[in-house]
Amino acid sequence: MLVLTAIFTVFLIERASPHTHFNTKNNTGQLNKRGCALSGTHQALCAKSGHQLVCTRGINTDWITGIRYEIGHLKIVDWPGLSTELTRFKGHFASTSRIEKLSIHGLTSLWEVPADMVSKMSHLRVLDLRGNVLRHLKAPTLRGPQNLEKVYLSDNKWDCSDGGLDWLAMEDENSATRRIIVDYYQLVCHQQLYRGKPLHKVMDIIKMVRHTCPKPCACAMTHVVTDRAGGIIPLITVDCANKRLISPPTTLPPSATTLRLEGNKLNSIRPLVQEPQYRKLMDLYLDNNSIHAVKELEGSEWFTTFRVLSLRGNFLKQIPVYAFDKAFQANNNIMGVFLGQNPWRCDCHFIPRFQALLLKYKRIIRDLSDIRCSKSDDKTISQVQISTMPLGNVCSRPEVKSVPISSINIVNLVLSFLIFVIVGKFLYDWHHFRTTGKLPWISSILP
Ligand SMILES: *[C@@H]1O[C@H](CO)[C@@H](O)[C@H](O)[C@H]1NC(C)=O
Ligand SMILES: *[C@@H]1O[C@H](CO)[C@@H](O)[C@H](O)[C@H]1NC(C)=O
Repeated sequence: MLVLTAIFTVFLIERASPHTHFNTKNNTGQLNKRGCALSGTHQALCAKSGHQLVCTRGINTDWITGIRYEIGHLKIVDWPGLSTELTRFKGHFASTSRIEKLSIHGLTSLWEVPADMVSKMSHLRVLDLRGNVLRHLKAPTLRGPQNLEKVYLSDNKWDCSDGGLDWLAMEDENSATRRIIVDYYQLVCHQQLYRGKPLHKVMDIIKMVRHTCPKPCACAMTHVVTDRAGGIIPLITVDCANKRLISPPTTLPPSATTLRLEGNKLNSIRPLVQEPQYRKLMDLYLDNNSIHAVKELEGSEWFTTFRVLSLRGNFLKQIPVYAFDKAFQANNNIMGVFLGQNPWRCDCHFIPRFQALLLKYKRIIRDLSDIRCSKSDDKTISQVQISTMPLGNVCSRPEVKSVPISSINIVNLVLSFLIFVIVGKFLYDWHHFRTTGKLPWISSILP
């Protein structure tokens, strides 16, 4: 299975101790049966000097069939076959291997080696993997070989962000595994987030985040920035979504910038905007909680510095519009506010001011189409989008429109009827007096 086909591949298997007698067969260490299929080739050129054999373009047929047990140091340069390149080393060295030093260099496609490639090699003392494109390494590679003394790993493409090296981050500084990595402080992260950052610093951060992440949340680094002094500042997302929390976690990792609390049972925003441990949060996601009011935002310092606030899917009926306006104006960081899926109260007292706010900050308030009046029997406002709703729907509507008959209206009707009757009677009496000269009956009985 092991097909070494890279151009300029250098594959070096060396037995370090020159004093060992080379009288064992299989002394180049066997790859397991699925492992190396060393096929002879006549183009190959092998040169032996002492106990060292250097082969170019494969292994000469003579050496495959010949007296290979004499070889203590096998160096294979420029393996043949150009169509595919070695990207993964498959198989592993057997426990009977007597190899003391293993070097694999210059494989420009080799990004992964199996966890147990060397772990059973009880004689292995030196493992040199410099100059490949390895991205991660499994713990057993370094913990397995009992007599491993030195490991060289620099000049690879280490990926510090995919979790493949997290085990190394959690190693104690003085642990055996950490100490055998000779060039630990020269290692550099290459992929994504940490491109160009010193690996040891990134490992320290990963360890710190692991130790400070509150339960039951998960913490992840989403960005890193470099400060003026060259220090690395991680930007950490603390994800506590859907954990049935009734209050936010009481502690956060230092430099946590995002807190996700969607789908919990929080009913207040108060601790988040008032307690100091949350002050550095930039982005706060509170979707699908049970928040009825956000009065606490008024006057809070956090509200003038935050970046994202999502309150979708809560029980908000109204907000302190003036406080929102003031904070949005003062806040230079603000990127997004989400207020949709709340049962907004649609009346003439709240809606004109709220609609003006929505329109004034339509670039900031990102989900205008979801900000709608609560469900109600009044079809002109029920679940109508507030930002585009005619204000006439809630203000100064014509009275004829199915105004419910209240008791005060009944009294009004009766009173106006009575006035009408009295004025009518007066006009009738006056006309009657002018034509007949008779006083109305009421005047005749009055004294
Ligand atoms: C060499 O290795 C093969 C396969 O692992 C094994 O069958 C054979 O017995 C070994 N020979 C010696 C002398 O160890
Ligand atoms: C909130 O709940 C709604 C409805 O259950 C769901 O569709 C939505 O994805 C949830 N939002 C988040 C951020 O979990």
